[in-house]
Amino acid sequence: MPIRLRLTLWSCLIFGFLLAAITISIYLVHSTSNYKEQDRILSKISLHIRGELEKEIKEGGSLSEARFSLEKFSLNGVYVLINDASGNYIAASLNPFRAPDAPLPDLRKMKRNLHTFTDPEFGRFRMMVTPVWDADRVVGYIQAEISLKQIDTSLARLKWLIFFVTCTGLFLAAAGSWFLARKALSGVEIISQTAQAIAVSQGFDRRVLYTGAKDELSQLAETFNEMLESLENAFVSQRRFIAYASHELRAPLTTIRGNLDILQRMKNIPPEDQVEILGDTRREAIRMSKLVADLLSLARADAGQEIRMQIVDLSKLLKEVESEIQAWDKKVSIQAEWEPSVMTWGNEDLLKQLLLILAENAVRYTPEGGHIMLAAYLDSRHCGIRAADTGIGIDPRDLPNIFERFYRSESARMHSSEGSGLGLSIAKWIVELHGGNIIVTSVPGEGSDFQVRLPKIKE
Ligand SMILES: Nc1ncnc2c1ncn2[C@@H]1O[C@H](COP(=O)(O)OP(=O)(O)OP(=O)(O)O)[C@@H](O)[C@H]1O
Ligand SMILES: [Mg+2]
Repeated sequence: MPIRLRLTLWSCLIFGFLLAAITISIYLVHSTSNYKEQDRILSKISLHIRGELEKEIKEGGSLSEARFSLEKFSLNGVYVLINDASGNYIAASLNPFRAPDAPLPDLRKMKRNLHTFTDPEFGRFRMMVTPVWDADRVVGYIQAEISLKQIDTSLARLKWLIFFVTCTGLFLAAAGSWFLARKALSGVEIISQTAQAIAVSQGFDRRVLYTGAKDELSQLAETFNEMLESLENAFVSQRRFIAYASHELRAPLTTIRGNLDILQRMKNIPPEDQVEILGDTRREAIRMSKLVADLLSLARADAGQEIRMQIVDLSKLLKEVESEIQAWDKKVSIQAEWEPSVMTWGNEDLLKQLLLILAENAVRYTPEGGHIMLAAYLDSRHCGIRAADTGIGIDPRDLPNIFERFYRSESARMHSSEGSGLGLSIAKWIVELHGGNIIVTSVPGEGSDFQVRLPKIKE
């Protein structure tokens, strides 16, 4: 069932219930007080007549001789009949509404001396029967009657009025809440239409155009737009990532295929050329496997895979990395310094990968004869690693981008054709995973200094 219909039904139900409760109580109070008033009139008159009659009997008269005038009671719309003890007529007042001379009810069956009877022609009557006593003997009965026709008619009219007001009220409540629900939900409709359009077309560049007042719905629209923006960013960067990755993979594959074609087609290649072609092919294969390993690291980062952490000695890692680099074919001098035990909490493989990324960059972007310094250090609150070089440096305009995936500065491209721009984005992920941060200071043409700060383990 649509929300709009549900809201309308609920408000109709609540409003109808309230309206019914109010009108029914008004009706009940009104009718009870009206009928009670009739009983009060009857009882007042009956008691008065009884008092007069009993007084006359006491003074020696008899009921049949009572000269008591009943006419004046007809003014109150009450018809009074006096009967003797066996129910025979003695006297009667004027009959104001031509009330039928109702037979005396069987008093033994009546719980109270009040009784309602219906005359087919004149409608309902209320009757009160009061015994007249002479000492301890009932000598007669006063039968007082009043017509309920007027009250019945007025209450019937009131009933119709209540019915009409309740129906009109319900109709107005239904129309009002239908209109209000429509107005309130129109924003939701706009949002759902946009969501549907996006689902069909995958156009994350769409936005919800909500022009209503500043309320919860405008907030929802705003949040929805923010979500769309981040989805769009993720979608675009995903596409870019795939485009870059396939482009980067194509280059080494093309070289490898070309080299293999040459080897297959040409039979008499001189041995030294053969060695060169094979060496070239091997380099490209190594480059490709490094690229694939980097892509895998980033895929793991994106998947938010859980990483096993333990206590890691950064000095030990630096020592290992230094001896690995010393074995590389390089034209720069390397100096490594470490304090005895620089302990942090982390993943040993990833931290070693971080050190290798920084060291590899330093070696790659430092021209022949340059100097590289690697260090693992401790200060009062942190422990850290540092990779400083006297290399080509980084232009201040490139600095904000070097941690982006596939970003390589112009000067880096000119200096070295190797590399695909993934190293530092992996480094950043590793540092953030360990709750640390990375700071770069660099002067173009003079060198760069990468400092990583990690949480320290207190001994
Ligand atoms: N030590 C450095 N000296 C000068 N520039 C650097 C240094 N380290 C990084 N850069 C700059 O930052 C860019 C990004 O570095 P990153 O390590 O991510 O990629 P890469 O070294 O080009 O390729 P990859 O590491 O994926 O093989 C580099 O292209 C270079 O412009
Ligand atoms: Mg690199």
